[in-house]
Amino acid sequence: MKKLITAFIALLFLFAACQPAGQQKAATSGNDIEKRVEDLLSKMSLDEKIGQMNQYTSRWEMTGPAPANADSMFIYNMIKEGKLGSMLNVTGVAATRKVQKLAVDSSRLGIPLILGYDVIHGYKTIFPISLAEAASWDPEVAKLSAKVAADESAAAGLHWTFAPMVDVSRDARWGRVMEGAGEDPYLGSKMAYARVKGFQGDDLSAENTIAACVKHFAAYGFAEAGRDYNTVDVSEELLQNVIFPPFKASVEAGAATFMNSFNTLNGIPATGNVYLQRDILKGAWNFDGFVVSDWGSIGEMINHGFAADRKDAALKAITAGSDMDMEANAYIEDLKGLVESGQVKESLIDDAVRRILRIKFRLGLFDDPWKYCNEEREKTVLLSAENLAAAREVAKKSIVLLKNENNLLPLAKTGQKIAVIGELAASKDVPLGNWRAQAIPNSAVSLLEGIKAVAGEQNVIFAKGPDYVISARNFATKLKYNETDLTGLDAAVKAARSASVVVIALGEDCFQSGEGRSQSDISLKGLQQRLLEEVYKANKNVVVVLMNGRPLEINWMAENVPAILETWHLGSQAGNAIADVLFGDYNPSGKLPVSFPRSVGQMPLYYNHLFTGRPSGSEDVTLWSRYTDVSNSPLYPFGYGLSYTTFEYSNLHLSDTVLTANGEITVKVNLKNSGNRFGEEVAQLYIRDITGSIARPVKELKGFQKIGLNAGDNTEVTFKITTKDLEFFTKANGWKAEPGKFKLWVGTSSAEGLEADFVLK
Ligand code: BGC
Repeated sequence: MKKLITAFIALLFLFAACQPAGQQKAATSGNDIEKRVEDLLSKMSLDEKIGQMNQYTSRWEMTGPAPANADSMFIYNMIKEGKLGSMLNVTGVAATRKVQKLAVDSSRLGIPLILGYDVIHGYKTIFPISLAEAASWDPEVAKLSAKVAADESAAAGLHWTFAPMVDVSRDARWGRVMEGAGEDPYLGSKMAYARVKGFQGDDLSAENTIAACVKHFAAYGFAEAGRDYNTVDVSEELLQNVIFPPFKASVEAGAATFMNSFNTLNGIPATGNVYLQRDILKGAWNFDGFVVSDWGSIGEMINHGFAADRKDAALKAITAGSDMDMEANAYIEDLKGLVESGQVKESLIDDAVRRILRIKFRLGLFDDPWKYCNEEREKTVLLSAENLAAAREVAKKSIVLLKNENNLLPLAKTGQKIAVIGELAASKDVPLGNWRAQAIPNSAVSLLEGIKAVAGEQNVIFAKGPDYVISARNFATKLKYNETDLTGLDAAVKAARSASVVVIALGEDCFQSGEGRSQSDISLKGLQQRLLEEVYKANKNVVVVLMNGRPLEINWMAENVPAILETWHLGSQAGNAIADVLFGDYNPSGKLPVSFPRSVGQMPLYYNHLFTGRPSGSEDVTLWSRYTDVSNSPLYPFGYGLSYTTFEYSNLHLSDTVLTANGEITVKVNLKNSGNRFGEEVAQLYIRDITGSIARPVKELKGFQKIGLNAGDNTEVTFKITTKDLEFFTKANGWKAEPGKFKLWVGTSSAEGLEADFVLK
């Protein structure tokens, strides 16, 4: 028996020795992982190391300019030769298994690929676009959405999502506003943290979690004039106080990877930016994961005039701390030469590879590269009833009620004819939004379907109105709108006339916002405004359901129609979620994560701006900081959103009016549901630092709580303030709270609230 056991143990050793490098025995602890990384690194040739830093897209799905070498065989050979460490846009168990098998079985060291994909707001079950989820002001909602997205992606063979996008943006012209959490660093940080946690869970190696990739580092959302990929020139104070916080929160949440960005930042492309990647991310924040470039962004440094040629670009990118090259071919072609000529030290390569391997180990890929390749799971997890229910839950919480005159909403479920109008109302595709991963085209519940399901087919008259988008609609095509053909207008007016209430869907096609979709005009496109005005002439009981990926200019609508519901692009369950709100089964609780402008000319528009030396004055005098043709204020402010009930704030009380260095002030306020139905309110705390060593914003969000109250009930809402909440960055002093006077507000939006004063000693 003893002999048998000895033989068995010997066999085990032999088996372990025959395993591809790095695949020996599962390890969980951080130390073990570090040991395994070093062990593997020591066995790798320079070519193999550089191979790990190379990433290609599949040749059958692309989310950027097509690569020169469009041949799948080319990719397969690169994998076998150990010249590819990662791929993007390979999805589904069958396809991912195929490429992974090549890496594990046919490359010399059998290092598994890390497979990434843009899972921005759902994989197959589509959740609201990220901007919409931020309107929930509920990080748990964003976390749930990310968790389901991770579960589905992992079940489809993926290890890694290029999300969350945490770029703060103050410019609705920028099409990528839809991918982020809006204009505020505090709300953005809460959402970023929740999303990273949702994707990664507590255990990156679990079969239902994937690595997050926080993007785009950094300042991409501040592109001049809102034009995608454009120049960014901002102060270090703005970077630290406004742009960095959601990135930093993501590192604190344990984000495995980062993506850099296309833009220049103060003259230096983010991809070649030492300050961003080495000093801040890997230095000050101690980030130990890896940084992937954006699509071709290493090569684009030549266009920026920052690199002379591809080799120079590779040199600048690796020096700055870009660890993996997405689709620029710069590392795989040029890094070796740079090492051989002594321009790049091999230790720099080692650092990058170490980081990449570390994440592969943490994902458990070496222990079981097939963990994510389970057809059974793929069949049961994707689009499960549970996931669709979660999508509906998240969607209804993302809706914002902008206007509701005379309580037109909620609608009665019976006893009235409802005219449903507009191309978007019947669309089963638009609600899926841009960056829709593996959504089945035309698979969303349309608004029309959602309304019919509640009110009954017989009580609904649908009229499409004039066509809206008349070109092909997809990720790559520039849209064309119908500006001339009025066919369908009369029928829409007739439908409106014959109904007691009109629900009209207006806004944007899903491919109207997103990457490369900047607009200089953000009013309603095509014949939508004309349709709205004609319909309104026929029937004043109009509810506008907005579907859009960015704030729009909607002055006429806001002035005239009695009810407006902001529904963004809500995903697979859009129609059901909107119907939940329209008919009062869910009382809307969302608040705007972005300011809605009166005019595109106000861009950039944001609530936490600085004062000017001439901040106000009567509307009639000229020499003040304002426009002569439009008010400074937004049409709808940040933090704004109505409910079917009403809330009253009273008795704002501070435990002390003096805050000491290590002390704390408790802020209490009474919140009452003064209406006649259950509702949820987001109580918001804003603070102004009256005087500082640099000018301070008029107010800044420092806390929020979502509270549900039954009709007539009230509760005491409590916030705590410590010195930490008052800290801000200056070049001279770093992060510091400066003694002096402060003002605070607690209320229902950034534009109103009860006010109190305190002093920091
Ligand atoms: C986008 C990234 C995206 C990448 C891969 C780029 O064009 O800027 O956000 O993750 O493509 O699809």
